[in-house]
Amino acid sequence: MKVLVIGSGAREHALCHSLSLDPDVTALHCAPGNAGIAEVAELHAVDALDGRAVAELATGLRADLVVVGPEAPLVAGVADAVRAVGIPVFGPSREAAQLEGSKAFAKDVMAAAGVPTARSYVCTTAEEAAEALDAFGAPYVVKDDGLAAGKGVVVTSDLDAAERHAAGCDRVVVEEFLDGPEVSLFAITDGETVVPLQPAQDFKRALDGDEGPNTGGMGAYSPLPWAEPKLVDEVLEKVLRPTVDELRRRGTPFSGLLYAGLAITSRGVRVIEFNARFGDPETQVVLARLRTPLAGVLLAAANGTLADLPPLRWREDAAVTVVVASHNYPGTPRTGDPITGLDEVAAQDGPHAYVLHAGTKRDGDAVVSAGGRVLSVTATGKDLTEARERAYRAVGRIRLDGSQHRTDIAAKAAQEAGV
Ligand code: AMP
Ligand code: GLY
Repeated sequence: MKVLVIGSGAREHALCHSLSLDPDVTALHCAPGNAGIAEVAELHAVDALDGRAVAELATGLRADLVVVGPEAPLVAGVADAVRAVGIPVFGPSREAAQLEGSKAFAKDVMAAAGVPTARSYVCTTAEEAAEALDAFGAPYVVKDDGLAAGKGVVVTSDLDAAERHAAGCDRVVVEEFLDGPEVSLFAITDGETVVPLQPAQDFKRALDGDEGPNTGGMGAYSPLPWAEPKLVDEVLEKVLRPTVDELRRRGTPFSGLLYAGLAITSRGVRVIEFNARFGDPETQVVLARLRTPLAGVLLAAANGTLADLPPLRWREDAAVTVVVASHNYPGTPRTGDPITGLDEVAAQDGPHAYVLHAGTKRDGDAVVSAGGRVLSVTATGKDLTEARERAYRAVGRIRLDGSQHRTDIAAKAAQEAGV
């Protein structure tokens, strides 16, 4: 099978890493990719947001499957453009991707499907936002309606800051604050059959102890030793299936990856957000644990034949990923800094620890930073403690001037599991 992956982050590197290990994959291509992906796939300098160019590339390569990684191309209709030339695509249509592209649309689908989520108001004026903020009280949750790369949400007890964020967006969703730990649960679906993956936890804040601003995600781990064993089944029945059914009922079936961002509150599970693609960095740890070869699963979702697939197989291992970010991320990051130590990780820590690239590119013989999140250092182990040790040992070998990473990824979960 010839596979083309669209995107250039650590999630796409994780997808390419898994696909490169799949014996069914005979050729692997990526557009536009990054310096790490170039080691396992052939790169093509095609704009991920240009549906026609992606469809032409897929046709020229005689691709059997196209996997669209990030949300922006999905919301721009890139999956539709590829489907229109008759090539199977893993990723939802432009209309179904509105589940991520518009928070107001997602709220409407959840209300129709009876999916538990935070109570909310959609506001288009400062007056409406002020009323909604007053109705819910602190802590305030204000979300930009559109795509914002994980940075459109402000959670604060400062009313002025909440109002300022609302004023900076055209349309905002103001909602009730949800207390309790967060879980990311992904499901692969062909629009009808829904296959949940293993849950993971993401660390959204920039600094240790969940301090600092929201980011795209600073690390992740899986499994969640503290979660109830029935969690996956419960989310499947209450959240994932009803959502997939509702989108099919509307005539816009969702096929691809449905990402449920959940809060486990004292009153039960609530959806914080949906995404229409694999999460980053959770994918790095979920795929590290998946034993079933990936390509056949993604192709079955694209072809509508997931019901015929045997159950997924998982490793007992735990997985941890630590994101190494540029100086000043999540503000305007500094780029162009050389990265060294990558060979040492490969020589001394592999195969249990490995580096997935996010914002990197080649500059002559050097690999340099090219984005906010630069690397996602991933490791597996017999438990979270071992996976953490391996991940942080590898992080310690990497040198990138001014870089930052959290030191507490999976620390609490590992400690609690050890008691
Ligand atoms: P989102 O982009 O919707 O995932 O929001 C980013 C982050 O903001 C989430 O991962 C949560 O940590 C936080 N957040 C979003 N909505 C809420 C809420 N209703 N209550 C508490 N925290 C929230
Ligand atoms: N890890 C959060 C996201 O992918 O949106």
